[in-house]
Order: sequence, then structure tokens, then C-alpha cells
Amino acid sequence: MDEELLQKGILRLKWAEAHMPVLAAVRERFRKEQPFKGLKVGMALHTEAKTGILAITIAEAGAEVRLASCNPLSTDDSVALALREEYGLDVYAKKGETSEEYYANLNSVLDMNPDFIIDDGADLIAMLHTSRQDALPNIKGANEETTTGVIRLRAMANDGALKFPVMAVNDSRMKFLFDNRYGTGQSAFDGWMNATNLMVSGKNLVVAGYGWCGKGVAMRAKGLGANVTVTEVDPIRAIEAKMDGFTVKKMVDAVKDAEIVITVTGCKDIIRMEHLEVMKSGCIMGNVGHFDNEISKTDLNALAKGVTRVREFVDEYELKDGRKVYLISDGRLMNLAAGQGHPAEIMDMSFAVQALGLEYMVKNCKDMDNAVYTAPDELDYDIARLKLEAMGVTIDSLTDEQRSYITGWEEGT
Ligand code: NAI
Repeated sequence: MDEELLQKGILRLKWAEAHMPVLAAVRERFRKEQPFKGLKVGMALHTEAKTGILAITIAEAGAEVRLASCNPLSTDDSVALALREEYGLDVYAKKGETSEEYYANLNSVLDMNPDFIIDDGADLIAMLHTSRQDALPNIKGANEETTTGVIRLRAMANDGALKFPVMAVNDSRMKFLFDNRYGTGQSAFDGWMNATNLMVSGKNLVVAGYGWCGKGVAMRAKGLGANVTVTEVDPIRAIEAKMDGFTVKKMVDAVKDAEIVITVTGCKDIIRMEHLEVMKSGCIMGNVGHFDNEISKTDLNALAKGVTRVREFVDEYELKDGRKVYLISDGRLMNLAAGQGHPAEIMDMSFAVQALGLEYMVKNCKDMDNAVYTAPDELDYDIARLKLEAMGVTIDSLTDEQRSYITGWEEGT
């Protein structure tokens, strides 16, 4: 065993733990109350330090846990080793999995015959409905972490195909308002800078998608001094981007002088042939959307006469007409593949929603339909109160008169 790697993983877990006070409070209660005693929980999440703390929290609450990664490039091998050796968890993940290894690891999670699933992107849940229906009878419910997974699950529910209740953790305000916006906003550039070691300031930077993640990426890009252009398909979000001070264009126009393109739409083929054909030479493309299909590698390869790995996480595509364009981490979410993912303080909130959402699911799944649910507001408020306390911030509360004023209708002025 690689002792140095193990110590690195242990330290990374301890660093994350020290910056996740909300999850620590949940964990302390879970240790006493054992809400998951006797249950098996199968998880597919980016296997890095913050996820490790969530997995440990669930195990300490009494569950048997198996963890695989939800992306072939997002595992921190030091953390995976530490979770196995120091914390005795079953972890099936390594950085740089082949497609076969990725699905073999997801299958290993389902081999435990879990009672509950925690998924990120819904690959595990999709397998339960297709190739692994053998594990379906024991499943009582699942949590889903990200926008793309929730979209897939809503589509399944609408088709009447979903076979158990699912909690859309992503749709809790204590998740998407912070994780998607501030988390992706910061970690996209952690990955970008680590991959390139280049300047953002002064560059023409295009953000595709002005959802919760795109807003964060655009805001941080502006703060770093880039000239930011946003592309959208939703007219309301396009107006939001415009009024937030960004240039809004069609992608085919934006790429002509773009030096950096960051896709974060959850949709596919955002950069395709028609864009690559007019893209400025030297443009560096990176994706932070869930899947690696936002930048078409098929079209890139069709236009390229050669591909060279010029840095650890950067491929240079030399195009047949002599232009050169660059792709970070093979189009996979660069904040995790080339960076360290969201800050621990952010995942503290997201994973508190996961932990408390799972507790809610365990208590209530018998009475839930095979549908997609959002966690009750009270859960968001509990987490927000704990987070404020940890941040040392106190806020006002309503007086009795104010409460009756804002809930009543008789008093006008
Ligand atoms: P969202 O639904 O809030 O926003 C997506 C935006 O993209 C929408 O405004 C939509 O109109 C726009 N869009 C869709 N197709 C487009 C197209 N063809 N061209 C331009 N814009 C288009 O979703 P959110 O929460 O911002 O998530 C986006 C993606 O990021 C998802 O795949 C999600 O799973 C992923 N995600 C990644 C994280 C990470 O750590 N890298 C963290 C959280 C989410």
C-alpha cells in the first residue's frame, strides 16, 4: 500500500471535515440516533474529500455504505484509499476509469443490493431501471444530486417509468443557490487555471448557459477581469444576463473572437461543427456541465488533422485549415477533472441536504409515490440556521406585530 498517498487522503478528509460544520452537527446527531441502522446505502458521487465526509456520516448513522464515482475522471485516489483503509468503507473508484471500469464500479455498488441510493447524474438509477432490474425490488428510494440527474428523473416519472420515490436534492434552495452558483463559479476557475496556468483577465470569455451554474461562472469571470459574453436559448435568462451587464450573443457569433469558452447548460452539442468552423484560433474550451457531450468531440475530431496532449489536462486540436483549438479534461467537467471541485464550505450545505434528505426519505418513503420530490422547506431553513451560526452571523426575527402584518390582509399602511 502507498503510505504517502494514504496520509495525503487522510489529511484531505480532515481538512474538508474541519470546514463542514453543518454536516458535523448532523453527524453528531446521527451518531446518537442511528437513523440508518441496518440499511444499505449505495452511492455514486464524485469520490473526493467532501463526498468522503458525507459517506462517513452515513456510515456512522448505522448504514453499510458502498461508494463509486459518478464520473470517470473525478476521483481523488488519495481520498479513495483513505476511505478504504482508514474508515473501512467499500469504495469502487479511481481517477481515469475506462468506460468498462466506470460501469463495473457502478455495478459493484448495485451488487450490495442497496435499500437506498444517492446518485449524481442518475446513471445508477437508470441502470436500476434497465440492466440491473435484479436490484430493484429492495430499493426503497433515492436522492439525486444534480440538475442533469433531476431532469432525467422527471422525464422517467412523466413516462410513468420511475419505480421508486426520488428526492431532488439539487432543487433545494440550500443546494442550487450556493453549490451551482458560487461552487461552480469558483471551482470552474480552479480547474481552468490548474489546467492552463494562463490569464483570464483581459480575455474574451463565453459562458454557454445562464442557469444557476452559468450565473456563477459569468460572475466570477467578470470579477477576474474577462470580457464576458453569455449564450442562451431561454429568452428570460438571456434578459437576466443582459441586465447583469453581460453581452448576449448567438454562439456562432460569440466564438469568432472567443479566447475562452465554458459550457454549462446540461444540454448537448453546444459547441458543434458550425461553431468550430468559425472559432478563433487559440480558443480554449472547457465544460462544467454534467456530461462530456456539451462540446462535440466527434465534430472536433472530424475537423482535426492531429491531437496532442500539451499539458496534463489540455489537448491541442490542430485543425486542417491550420487553426489550433484546445479542450480541457476531454470535455468532462473541468472543475472536478482538472480541479478539486467545489469548496468544502459549499459542499457542507449540499451534503447536509443529502444527509437530512436521506433521513426524510427513510422515514417517509412508504407513503411516497414513485415520483420526484423536493425536500420540505423546513429542512432548508434548519440547514441555513446552522450555517449562519457556523459563520458567526446573527439576523433579525419578526416581531409578533410584523408577523401578523405580513400574513394578514386588513392593515394596508
Ligand atoms: P439550469 O437549468 O439552471 O441552467 C441551464 C441553462 O442552460 C438554462 O438557462 C438553459 O436555458 C440553458 N441552455 C440549455 N440549452 C442551451 C443551449 N443549447 N445553448 C445555450 N444555453 C442553453 O442548470 P444548472 O443548475 O445551471 O446546471 C447546468 C449543468 O451543470 C447541469 O448539467 C448540471 O447537472 C451541471 N452541474 C455541474 C456542477 C459542477 O460541479 N460542475 C454543479 C452543479 C450542476
